[in-house]
Amino acid sequence: MSTRTLIRGHLLDVPGNPFTDSVGLRSEPDGAILIDGDRIAARGAAPALLAAAPDAPVVDHRGSFILPGFIDTHVHFPQLPVIGSMGLPLLRWLAERTLPAEAALDTAESASKAADRFLRMLAKNGTTSALVFGSHIPIAQNAFFERAAASGMRIVSGLSLGDRELPDALIRTADECYRESESLIARWHGSGLLRYAVTPRFSVSCSEAVLDACGALTKRYPGVMVQTHINENRDEIALVRRQFPWARDYFDTYERAGLTGATAVFAHNLHPTSDELSRMAEAGVRVAHCPSSNNFLGSGSFPMARHRKSGIAFSVACDVGGGTGFSLLKEALAAYEMQMQRDDGVALTPTTLLYLITSAGAELLGMQDQTGDLSPGKQADLVVLRAPEGSSLQAVLAHHTQDAQQQLGAMITLAREESIRETWVAGRRIYPDAG
Ligand code: GUN
Ligand code: ZN
Repeated sequence: MSTRTLIRGHLLDVPGNPFTDSVGLRSEPDGAILIDGDRIAARGAAPALLAAAPDAPVVDHRGSFILPGFIDTHVHFPQLPVIGSMGLPLLRWLAERTLPAEAALDTAESASKAADRFLRMLAKNGTTSALVFGSHIPIAQNAFFERAAASGMRIVSGLSLGDRELPDALIRTADECYRESESLIARWHGSGLLRYAVTPRFSVSCSEAVLDACGALTKRYPGVMVQTHINENRDEIALVRRQFPWARDYFDTYERAGLTGATAVFAHNLHPTSDELSRMAEAGVRVAHCPSSNNFLGSGSFPMARHRKSGIAFSVACDVGGGTGFSLLKEALAAYEMQMQRDDGVALTPTTLLYLITSAGAELLGMQDQTGDLSPGKQADLVVLRAPEGSSLQAVLAHHTQDAQQQLGAMITLAREESIRETWVAGRRIYPDAG
């Protein structure tokens, strides 16, 4: 029996890194993708593909854009209710709003419900793959993995870890951190589309013993990723300096524990020293840039040019609940605006912005062979985007029927979850779901 489907619409993707290679925006206005099982078997002009696969059922999305699935490299599962908690900088926002909300999610049942809502919001916003900061509570994190498996999405996640500067309910000893992470790795890492990331929350909440336990986990399980936060807020950096008087800087607290391998993704990095940047580049670690969160929490602005110059790979992520929503299109706009405000701002084009929410994310997650663009051979992870009837986006697009850069610029600026019509992962439509 054939599992082939042909999906037709205006294809837009960026097959490579436009910062370093001579790739640009690929636009196929009357295009099609032939999906065979979970993979893209062919792409091209619709008439040619229709002729080559006359028996494949056609999903006709003419009038819509088909983009690669968005890839979010930093988002917190237990923080959906925290979105929009205004008025506080990072450390007070954590202590007064966010950590209590995380502690409230302490049963498998409440965590399952929260996970379903969270995963649905990702899919509804066109996100197909995500590196997800988990709960500190093992049964809640296990429930998250269960629901992530059922969602059909590509999810990398891990139990958040810390033994201080947290509510009592979230604290675990270093030994517990090791053992609880280990049992979740055994159960979930490599299961279907799921992978594991060792997840020390940040050095503020981790003693050296916890960071060492994380280092030991990554040695014992070399395939797992690492995710944490760094250099987000000046008060946070000063606190780390007091907590780790021996350390050269914030990055050193992770380096000493062996957490700076090439599978590590560090969120934020707004205030790095030059020495940290060169050591980060040498180690090959990657950075998740979360512009709406940085603006919302007043944390600072991302020195993108310095990251580029140092050769550090980065992508754009939403950081809910510090971030202001799940839309990576909105994050791309915020990234653009942030660079426009900086004296040393990088001039970002619609093409580079699409790259930063698709194939750059795939590179950060080590998934560039599977996802990130719409090339044959990759997994069929895609988003169908269409301007709602009567929307500002529809009005703007009507002026730019021939110019793909302008169309993409308009989508990044105006398209939000109302414009996401379908989300597909590995050849399966996950949003809207069948039920
Ligand atoms: N640093 C440690 N935890 C967090 C978090 O939940 N959000 C943000 N933005 N920064 C953090
Ligand atoms: Zn975060």
